[in-house]
Amino acid sequence: MKKAFITGITGQDGAYLSQFLLEKGYEVHGGVRRISQPETVRLEQLGVEKDVHLHEFDLSEGNNIFRIIRDGEYDEFYNLAAQSFVGSSWDQPIYAADVNGVGVARILDTLRTISPHTRFYQASTSEMYGLVQEVPQSETTRFYPRSPYGVAKVYGHYITTNYRESFDMHASCGILFNHESPLRGKEFVTRKITMALAKIAHGSDDPVVLGNLNAKRDWGFAGDYVKGMWAMLQQDQADDYVLATGETTTIRDFVTFAAEALDMKPEWDGEGINEVAVDANTGKRIIEISEKFFRPAEVDLLIGDPSKAQKALGWTASVDVRELASMMAKADYDNLS
Ligand code: NAP
Ligand code: GDD
Repeated sequence: MKKAFITGITGQDGAYLSQFLLEKGYEVHGGVRRISQPETVRLEQLGVEKDVHLHEFDLSEGNNIFRIIRDGEYDEFYNLAAQSFVGSSWDQPIYAADVNGVGVARILDTLRTISPHTRFYQASTSEMYGLVQEVPQSETTRFYPRSPYGVAKVYGHYITTNYRESFDMHASCGILFNHESPLRGKEFVTRKITMALAKIAHGSDDPVVLGNLNAKRDWGFAGDYVKGMWAMLQQDQADDYVLATGETTTIRDFVTFAAEALDMKPEWDGEGINEVAVDANTGKRIIEISEKFFRPAEVDLLIGDPSKAQKALGWTASVDVRELASMMAKADYDNLS
């Protein structure tokens, strides 16, 4: 039986990866932060919380990481933990650097010292492309991060490739484009939209208040992306791979797809912060804009080229953005029923 450790096991990807590895027969361990009310709700939603072994864990604590690795003898180590909300990284840039950047080095240096056989996965991100230098973005596109989150992730990415090249470690980075699900955190734009629209469909009069509707993202389903993470660690040679759908969509169009899945008929009117959407079926205002949700620097366009992963790993995204918006909106609607 293979043994894996997942940092960030309580997060969206951690839950889906746990489920996937358990189905493959792995013994799954994961790191949980000590907080006043332990949050394993996603593992519970997938019905796997009793099948995983949880350990107190924080990426900012080197000795904690050392003991976990020394005591565990893991075959695979997936580093999914991060301060993952881009918006917060302007408020806590030093924390983002420590956890998302230096935290990766803490793990790698421990693995190098006491467990060099362990295969390592680093959660790199399309946010590293930032002000994009090429369209679509691939493994060879130059990085130009636009947030403290993105800058820290670039460090995490390069320290992983550096340890691979310096110490011959099996360490791979998945450069993952946005991936969502009904388990997505409520502050991310897709889930914020689907939760609020579901409430409106149940009778609420509160519109969703958003920021920049023109940003474009390459959105896929998280359940597909964790399979790609695993596939990377099964290769003879470690390498870096983009996982993406190859399709890009504005926030505005995501709203439309989610609203239509709930039998609304959004009509858009106005421009900039005066733009609104009204459900033509009911006359209710469903979208408003506020400057509060604009970012100090924006990533305008993300669209990934997943051809390397398709060819080498046999990986493809199976859910398109319209299906994804519908899946999330209907799950949120059903949760409220
Ligand atoms: P998520 O749902 O926000 O989960 C993040 C996880 O990290 C949570 O389990 C969180 O624990 C944990 N964590 C945060 N700070 C920590 C610390 N200091 N020490 C230990 N654990 C800590 O994020 P996700 O969507 O699953 O993303 C997983 C990873 O992929 C992240 O590294 C993210 O940056 C990266 N990524 C995500 C996407 C995407 O679109 N989802 C795309 C590219 C890359 P708590 O439950 O205690 O908060
Ligand atoms: N969160 C949020 N809330 N975003 C909004 C809003 C709003 O009210 N209105 C507009 N947006 C825009 C943001 O400005 C951004 O352009 C886009 O919606 C997506 O924002 P998020 O859903 O917060 O995701 P993200 O793209 O910044 O970051 C996610 O994807 C990255 C991969 O590219 C996160 O999962 C990161 O951890 C991940 O690395």
